[in-house]
Amino acid sequence: MSDSRPRRFRLRYVAAVLALFAAVIMGLVASNGAESPSVEDYYSSFESRLGYWLLLGNTRHCGLYKKGQLSPFPISRAQRAMEEKLYTRLGLKEGARILDAGAGSGYVAIYMARKGLNVQAIDVTPHHLVDAQKNVRENGLTEKIAVDYGDYHNLTTFNDESFDGIYTMETFVHADDPVKVLNNFYRLLKPGGVLVLHEADFNRNSQRLQEVLRLSHCGNTLEEGEYRKLAEEVGFKDFTLEDLTDEVLPMWRLFGVVGYVPYQLFKLLGIAHRFTNVMAGVEAWLNWGDGRYISVRVVKP
Ligand SMILES: C[S@@+](CC[C@H](N)C(=O)[O-])C[C@H]1O[C@@H](n2cnc3c(N)ncnc32)[C@H](O)[C@@H]1O
Repeated sequence: MSDSRPRRFRLRYVAAVLALFAAVIMGLVASNGAESPSVEDYYSSFESRLGYWLLLGNTRHCGLYKKGQLSPFPISRAQRAMEEKLYTRLGLKEGARILDAGAGSGYVAIYMARKGLNVQAIDVTPHHLVDAQKNVRENGLTEKIAVDYGDYHNLTTFNDESFDGIYTMETFVHADDPVKVLNNFYRLLKPGGVLVLHEADFNRNSQRLQEVLRLSHCGNTLEEGEYRKLAEEVGFKDFTLEDLTDEVLPMWRLFGVVGYVPYQLFKLLGIAHRFTNVMAGVEAWLNWGDGRYISVRVVKP
């Protein structure tokens, strides 16, 4: 009897230290729980930084896989395949000038520059810009890629008809005013210029997904058919859409599996909304079929 007391005390002590440690880690990693975070809030949270760095090496877009493939590895090869798909959809000649609207850490721009395109990269998230500038420098591509602060809602620093092509790689989802953004892209493109958008669109049935979209400042996940309508209203022609949903599934399955247990725990503790990326990964996977991953291409007449 007298032997077991100190032992129970020690176990409690160890459990308390572990719980404290877990709470500190969660507190550090969790977002600030803002109701409607801005784009910068979302990408600046420690959870977002850690997740993108650990899982995707700071390249913040989906990989493209063969239909039916199970393994998501190697992720970097699939991401290069997605960049190649974007490059092919642009269909531009060497030396063409393009705008990367929402360049993140600059890896897509680097891919395009290596293919011979001249890239103007813009973004609104300060640490992404610093990262992109560093990556461009380290890859010796400062002659081919310019990286500057720029919000695609407000592109007045660029002249009319100054680009042969414009693309967004998973950034147009963040637009607060998609029509304004499309009008800006239209103005900046030369006649015959091409716009390619690699984006997600979701139907509005899943409440959980809507919450994920709000927490990641993704208000612009247009309904099926909406992209064509908007693009044509702005004046674009030759609309084509490729549905790549099945080809991005392996990566989302990985996010869903990796995040499933922590997400259940966060839900039990009532703090799931502070772990936006974990929630996004699991909910997108559980609700697969409520959304699509699409490549939209239009041309300025
Ligand atoms: C999912 S990340 C994609 C980054 C990059 N395209 C890639 O594939 O790695 C979305 C990026 O869009 C940027 N972004 C969001 N809203 C923007 C805006 N209004 N103007 C310019 N960039 C924006 C974010 O800061 C972020 O870097």
